[in-house]
Amino acid sequence: MSILKIARMGHPILRGVAAPVEDPTAPAVKRLVADMIETLDDIAGAGLAAPQVHVAQRVVIFRVPAERVTGRPGDTAQELTILVNPVIEALSGPMELGWEGCLSVPGLRGAVPRHSRIRYRGTTPDGAEIEREVEGFHARVVQHECDHLDGILYPQRMTDHRLLVFVEEWQRHPIDLAALAAE
Ligand code: NI
Repeated sequence: MSILKIARMGHPILRGVAAPVEDPTAPAVKRLVADMIETLDDIAGAGLAAPQVHVAQRVVIFRVPAERVTGRPGDTAQELTILVNPVIEALSGPMELGWEGCLSVPGLRGAVPRHSRIRYRGTTPDGAEIEREVEGFHARVVQHECDHLDGILYPQRMTDHRLLVFVEEWQRHPIDLAALAAE
């Protein structure tokens, strides 16, 4: 296993469309996923997509940390999930504005509108099929990671670029998204 180098915004691999994985249970996929998990643990991120480690294949990993969830049904803590060839379907419900960061966009945070409820499906490297209906942060992290597979970084999903800020400034000068929404 090894810790992989992360591509940063501007690297062309982050703008490309990743290829479907023919055999999700292939040993090469298990090796890639093991390295992605080691890389994610090393930097304490919530999620990672294969193109971020210079592999243009449709593989994502993510977890939903307890401190980020609302506790609503469908938005509870989730242990590490591996999805090969994930597919997302938006469910009815409003778009929600929430803060995101990205290991490929270091030092920044942005407020990004996302579907509040989604259904997603995918295969694990063990060959199991996962299908879940989720909301809140869980829905957000899956949309963020799957966007990487289509060459989309979160700043491209933003509608108000005044809300793209440095983490250090954001910590000193918090922005209340609920208050902004009420304006
Ligand atoms: Ni990201």
